[in-house]
Amino acid sequence: MIVAKKRSLDAQLFGRLFGAFPVALAVIDRDLLIQYSNETFSKVFGLKGAALSLAVTKFLPFGEVENLVGCAMSERKSKEAELQLGSPPGGSAFFRTTVIPFALKGDLGSLFLVTLEDVSERVRLEEQLLQAEKLSAMGQMAASIAHELGNPLSVMITSLEYLRHAIPRSTRGLQEQIEIMEENAKRMHELLTSLADMSGLRRFQPEKEDIRKAVIPVLFFVGRMAEKSKVTVKSDLSSELPPCRIDLRQLKQVFLNLLKNAIESMPKGGTITVRTRCRCNLLLRADMQTGSFSEGSGFVIVEIEDTGKGIPPSDLETIFRPFHSTKKRGMGLGLSLCRGIIENHGGKIWAASQKGKGSCFIVEIPADCGL
Ligand SMILES: Nc1ncnc2c1ncn2[C@@H]1O[C@H](COP(=O)(O)OP(=O)(O)OP(=O)(O)O)[C@@H](O)[C@H]1O
Ligand SMILES: [Mg+2]
Repeated sequence: MIVAKKRSLDAQLFGRLFGAFPVALAVIDRDLLIQYSNETFSKVFGLKGAALSLAVTKFLPFGEVENLVGCAMSERKSKEAELQLGSPPGGSAFFRTTVIPFALKGDLGSLFLVTLEDVSERVRLEEQLLQAEKLSAMGQMAASIAHELGNPLSVMITSLEYLRHAIPRSTRGLQEQIEIMEENAKRMHELLTSLADMSGLRRFQPEKEDIRKAVIPVLFFVGRMAEKSKVTVKSDLSSELPPCRIDLRQLKQVFLNLLKNAIESMPKGGTITVRTRCRCNLLLRADMQTGSFSEGSGFVIVEIEDTGKGIPPSDLETIFRPFHSTKKRGMGLGLSLCRGIIENHGGKIWAASQKGKGSCFIVEIPADCGL
């Protein structure tokens, strides 16, 4: 009677101790049958109650679990392995599985405690890291190729320019062929420059400037392209912006990419609105009479809004990944290049969109109001 009472107390204590333990636990015997399982175990495998008397191989890969138990039994010490489970209802798939032999009545190896620690998140992060390393290795390779090919290509472009001017205008056919070669060589050069920029090969040369100096020349530059596509470009550029520390050449490239994308998103024409504004308490501290700003922190914001086809919510982040493109002839490098440059400036870039109505790309750069 006393023994039975003690056993039930043991079972209660065992249940209390391990029931809600965050690691899935099961006690199995030599035949791999479950003698005890806790709540986390049931949760992981979507069971309503405990998994009593079921074979543990119903839940874990047969060969691997048998092997772990066999080794734990013969070596009389705990064994562990990382097992991938099909797809348990909890959605996690990788578990660090430990099999620990123990004895209730002196016979070590008659029972085994199996613990299952969910390591799916760690495995996922490792995979992401590996992917990032691969990308960075690819970037470095691309950068060195870009560097090696860039110089001879520049020489070719200069020679073609020279030829085009040197050949008499009367030889129209020949001139046209040179123009085609020149245009294509320039496109290749642009691409190589983008690759080099992406891997940070080019030097970042920031200077204290008004951000409009990076916006206005690009608006002028895309004017013809927009006109051809029946796109109207409107601008609303605030003249009360604090200066920023920016690399003008790199920022022009960002705005050029964003404007090109906006034009390409409206094959039947539309409107692009470019706005600049300031998000800070700097304006409150600004001396409106002299137009100077006192020290402080804040951001200058540039928005490029279009009335194009829009971007689905699920793509708002992926569009910034390298090689993500929905265009026939797109490389998918423009936006990832933009993000690299803006982050290098200590800023942020993101997109907002309403499918069918248009998209807005927002660039935020820290203001530099130091004296
Ligand atoms: N303004 C926009 N409206 C709708 N979709 C856009 C817009 N800007 C970018 N996208 C989407 O994001 C994708 C990635 O843009 P990104 O500029 O990185 O590459 P791309 O334009 O396809 O090629 P490229 O390397 O020549 O720039 C585009 O293919 C397009 O699907
Ligand atoms: Mg693009």
